[in-house]
Amino acid sequence: MRTPRHTFDANCDKLVFVRTLITDSTDEAAEIIRRGGLVAFPTETVYGLGADVLNEDALRRIFEAKQRPPDNPLIIHISDISQINELAESITDDARKLIEAFFPGPLTVVVKKSERVSNLATAGLDTVGIRMPSFGVAHEFLQKCRTPVAAPSANVSGRPSPTTWQAVREDLEGRIDCILRGDPTEIGLESTVVDCSADEPVVLRRGSITIEMLRAVVPGVREIAAAEELHRSPGTRHKHYAPQAVVIIVETQPEPRSDAAFIGISTKKDGWGHALSCRDIEEYAREVFEFFRECDRRSIATIYCQSVGSAGIGEALMDRLRRAAER
Ligand code: TXA
Ligand code: MG
Repeated sequence: MRTPRHTFDANCDKLVFVRTLITDSTDEAAEIIRRGGLVAFPTETVYGLGADVLNEDALRRIFEAKQRPPDNPLIIHISDISQINELAESITDDARKLIEAFFPGPLTVVVKKSERVSNLATAGLDTVGIRMPSFGVAHEFLQKCRTPVAAPSANVSGRPSPTTWQAVREDLEGRIDCILRGDPTEIGLESTVVDCSADEPVVLRRGSITIEMLRAVVPGVREIAAAEELHRSPGTRHKHYAPQAVVIIVETQPEPRSDAAFIGISTKKDGWGHALSCRDIEEYAREVFEFFRECDRRSIATIYCQSVGSAGIGEALMDRLRRAAER
């Protein structure tokens, strides 16, 4: 399926067609990566916007397409453990243990980068975040790319991460070369990021692999302290996950209003402009970003999000809700 779109060429001021190919073919999508194009693809967490990590022009285009601040490094996606040797200069014992335990899966491990990895991808840091998705389509696509693929989430910076291919199209159609169409993502929140580049492993971003799960493998893993967040976790200094609406975290469901929305795990009351009752925390995590986007489509002014406990993915969900609620 091809989706033509009109736009003005930035240089010559004339009307041109910009096309984003939408395909189900991993072969076609991988070919576009190998030719230096940008491809959005599904993973088990959220959709990513991929480019060949060895192609600096393609890396630059990722930042342009997403309007991403250049000081926010990209995660490099692999399909085979041996690719870590190309990307990392050295690997600590703790990194090795976490990779053995959790790859492929929703974990990004930050290690010292090799010289082959461009400073554009790592935003000038001497470390690189590496992740090996477990989702079948992602694995097949990455294998066919035959190169590690740098991929941030496939949203315009600051917007909720995309959990469907339609959400990617909403943000990036006409700005990227291809969308590899797949199912909605299973987890719905981005990977856990753990920095293993120094002696003591630190969780930089919470995700569905919890700190307890990491500690079962490497007991010394610790949470990031607020004071170090700014310099160790560049991604957190930028506005995140935010819908247009004001997000308010509540413990119990307020009285419904037609200009407001509610998402949570209690049974929804009648009268909301939009509402979703989730069966459990996993479903809440899977649905929350798409719920935010739907609220924007409906011009909802306020979104009430019910808080959840910290067990399992609850901690990561609360982290995203708090960031969305920050103004
Ligand atoms: O689940 C995910 O991780 C998704 C899918 C597509 O894999 N990707 C994703 O990428 O969420 P992005 O760019 O939206 O978030 C990457 C996060 C940012 O917070 C960034 O600062 C951090 O990872 N990061 C990447 N490389 C890093 C590094 N070398 N040191 C510290 N943080 C790093
Ligand atoms: Mg992102």
